[in-house]
Amino acid sequence: MAESMSGLKRTCRCAEVTEEYIGKTVTLMGWVAKCRNKGGIVFVDLRDRTGLIQIVTESEDADPRWGSLKTESVIAVVGVVQKRGGAVNENLKTGTIEVIPTELRVLSEAQTPPFLIQDGIETREDLRLKYRYLDLRRPELQAKIMFRSRLVELIREFLKGEGFLDIETPTLIKSTPEGARDYLVPSRVHEGKFYALPQSPQLLKQLLMCSGFDRYYQIARCYRDEDLRADRQPEFTQVDMELSFVDQDDVMDVNTRLLTYVLSKIPAIAEELNFDKELVAGLDAAGKELAANGISRMTWQDAMDFYGSDKPDLRFDMKITDVSETVKDCGFAVFTNAIANGGFVRGLNAKGMGDLGRKQIDKLTEVAKTYGAGGLAYIQLKTDGTVKSSFSKFMTEEEMQNLIAKMNGEQGDLLLFVSDKFRTVCAALGALRLHLGEELGLINRNEFKFVWVVDFPLLEWSDEENRFMAMHHPFTMPNEADWNNIDSDPGSVRALAYDIVCNGTEMGGGSVRIHMDEVQEKMLEVLGFTPERAREQFGFLLQAFQYGVPPHAGLAYGLDRMAMLFSASETIRDVIAFPKVKDASDLMMEAPGSVDGKQLDELSIAIKEDSSSKE
Ligand code: AMO
Repeated sequence: MAESMSGLKRTCRCAEVTEEYIGKTVTLMGWVAKCRNKGGIVFVDLRDRTGLIQIVTESEDADPRWGSLKTESVIAVVGVVQKRGGAVNENLKTGTIEVIPTELRVLSEAQTPPFLIQDGIETREDLRLKYRYLDLRRPELQAKIMFRSRLVELIREFLKGEGFLDIETPTLIKSTPEGARDYLVPSRVHEGKFYALPQSPQLLKQLLMCSGFDRYYQIARCYRDEDLRADRQPEFTQVDMELSFVDQDDVMDVNTRLLTYVLSKIPAIAEELNFDKELVAGLDAAGKELAANGISRMTWQDAMDFYGSDKPDLRFDMKITDVSETVKDCGFAVFTNAIANGGFVRGLNAKGMGDLGRKQIDKLTEVAKTYGAGGLAYIQLKTDGTVKSSFSKFMTEEEMQNLIAKMNGEQGDLLLFVSDKFRTVCAALGALRLHLGEELGLINRNEFKFVWVVDFPLLEWSDEENRFMAMHHPFTMPNEADWNNIDSDPGSVRALAYDIVCNGTEMGGGSVRIHMDEVQEKMLEVLGFTPERAREQFGFLLQAFQYGVPPHAGLAYGLDRMAMLFSASETIRDVIAFPKVKDASDLMMEAPGSVDGKQLDELSIAIKEDSSSKE
């Protein structure tokens, strides 16, 4: 039966007990991590978020319940701290001491949990997520959640010092087009009308600038109904900020300093939380690198050309080489047709992979195809000096030699080529590059490489919509130098937009916003908004701009991504207390769920007959 804790007061947490406590009485409370009965003497590992401490029932007349404690039960122990009788445990903070109990209270007896509460367990993730509250007891996950909390503390500390105000914005807002799909919330009061959950506080933070708040930030919950990936959740958290009277450099400068500050402090926190030593060293090295050299910039065009991605992973080199010029007149029609159709032929040199077997090359071809390439052309420069190629029969010896030379091909190398439209070539080779980086062991998980990607295109053509879409959002300022081309060549206009990329992940992004009427009107026109539709969608913002709007710019980090990267986690689920799975459901709460008819009636909503068959 569960007992009350009345009369007892916890004196400290388990792993806060040190040798200085020897001889003193402590009252500890926590979970039974392990219970071993050795010839009448019971050893209990008591656990809380600080770690473990060993309780040992030395005397024969100790409470008999010690011998039958169930793991994961919550107990309170009053006892005296002493030096360990047995061997010291070097892996434990409290490894040199133990507690001899004088009183035991079983505050809550636990049933046998569905999996062991231990690090390194091989339990299916869906089971762990169903019992997330148990999963979160594991020291590794506890450390990650605590790490995230400390990370937020550091960010707040820095932004406070820079004069930012923390202002909340609503989460029941108006649905706006562009961007991802909205999560909608039906209104009971306004029949047939819907709120949207914000994809970000973008428009609201711009309004705060109109109100004169000057420097705003918020740890903001955001919602996007999009396909999930390892670094994407339907609801996630942004560190969102906006500044007035600043330009692009000012925003990048304050954020470079923010990251430098965070990385100067975070190694000590990671160490305290018992993170891997190599990770702590990696964070420390990154902090020093940022403090010494800041963060370099790369244009979007260079990122795409050399890394095939607008979020290049700079932990390894292996750049993409454009060989279009070299092969434009060769005899291989796949190459020449692509070029004739406005496309490109580009390649990667996978050093040391020249002797791959057919099956392995097929696997690489599959990677390229997954990203839209029609195929993968290759030249194997084998270590035995022979050359094998998928297309040499279409080329002269000289053409082959020129191509190999252009690729800096040497004996032992594997040269891989994709020919297609710009986007497809970039996507396929970008993905192949990452795949090869993994295969060749070129990626160090404990290294952190940052880069600002700048000069994004303002607009992006959508085949689906048959129109230009805003690459960032419709309020992003175009680069003045290109603005004259907005009618003649809209796709060539660059934006004053920037992303902060770390290890191939977009950690944050932002832009300078349009504050001039004429530019905004033109932008909306190019995006295909009639003045009426623009007014209907974001009239409140356009109107606000009529009453005096300061030039402003901002940025938002994905906090989950930042916490994931700095804790070297594989997915953002590891740094979110209660994450959702791939199909956007919460396995623990079983959300989304059905609601009863009365609730639907109140909202004037009827579920279509056939929608249940979609499940
Ligand atoms: P953006 O859409 O680039 O910009 O989002 C900013 C950052 O938020 C993170 N992020 C996500 N994290 C987890 N799951 C998701 N589904 C997800 N989507 C985005 C990324 C991304 O870099 N309002 C603008 C910012 C601005 O211009 O100030 C915005 O939301 O790390």
